[in-house]
Amino acid sequence: MTNKDSAIGVFDSGIGGLTVLHQIIETLPKENTIYLGDTARAPYGTKSVETVLRYSFENSQFLVDKGVKIVVVACNTSTAIALGRLQEQLTIPVVGVIEPGVRRAVKSTKNKRVGVIGTEATIQSGAYTRALKAADQTIEVYSRACPLFVPLVEEGWTDNAVVEMTVNAYLGSFKQSGIDTLILGCTHYPLLKKAIRKFMGNTVRLVDSAEETAKEVESALRKGLLARKNGRGAHSFFVTDAPDRFIKVGRRFLGEKVESAVRIER
Ligand code: DGL
Repeated sequence: MTNKDSAIGVFDSGIGGLTVLHQIIETLPKENTIYLGDTARAPYGTKSVETVLRYSFENSQFLVDKGVKIVVVACNTSTAIALGRLQEQLTIPVVGVIEPGVRRAVKSTKNKRVGVIGTEATIQSGAYTRALKAADQTIEVYSRACPLFVPLVEEGWTDNAVVEMTVNAYLGSFKQSGIDTLILGCTHYPLLKKAIRKFMGNTVRLVDSAEETAKEVESALRKGLLARKNGRGAHSFFVTDAPDRFIKVGRRFLGEKVESAVRIER
């Protein structure tokens, strides 16, 4: 049985979800966390719906077996495709990253023109457009898949000439659309904020859903599941491929907290 002192479970296709975990730890420092990065099977953003569904269920099951009290789907692609089904089938709360980002974007936009960028699977699913329209029917949504952003960030390239060229190529059309808000609908994109801001200019608000997701986790736990103990929580990491790269790249996302990671077989 899970209880208040059980951990918060977080999964992502790989490393990127650490941006979400980082905000959860900032918001809820007393909580223990268990993170699963499915590094052997990433990226999810180019995979089919059936495959992303299956992986998302397997990842959630792993966390449930570890006794977590809530599952946070840190991956936008998994959220876009699998969140509804996971919420139906799991007996513990499941929180995704799309609704929180959408909420923030709706608050932020003045001219009701909102851009969304994400992986191919996320954009193709239409999940962001549906959520934005459900929140405010008058919002015009401009969306675009940016498949090269993930490998750039994984390579540690966040601020060089190649990044600038790629940002220009993907985001050029957003300039004409007159959006005042751009949702960074992928775990990796917050690391490209500087380059994106430089290209889009300061008048376009960039929405990173991590902070808002952490608030949603907090409010889900407020229903009697917040940790009772004092002191800082413990953080463990599991991966499905060799941990070395995860630890190295993970430190870029989360600093020294990523001391070690345990490999699990799939
Ligand atoms: N975690 C994925 C997302 O947020 C990006 C990386 C991938 O394609 O697996 O959509």
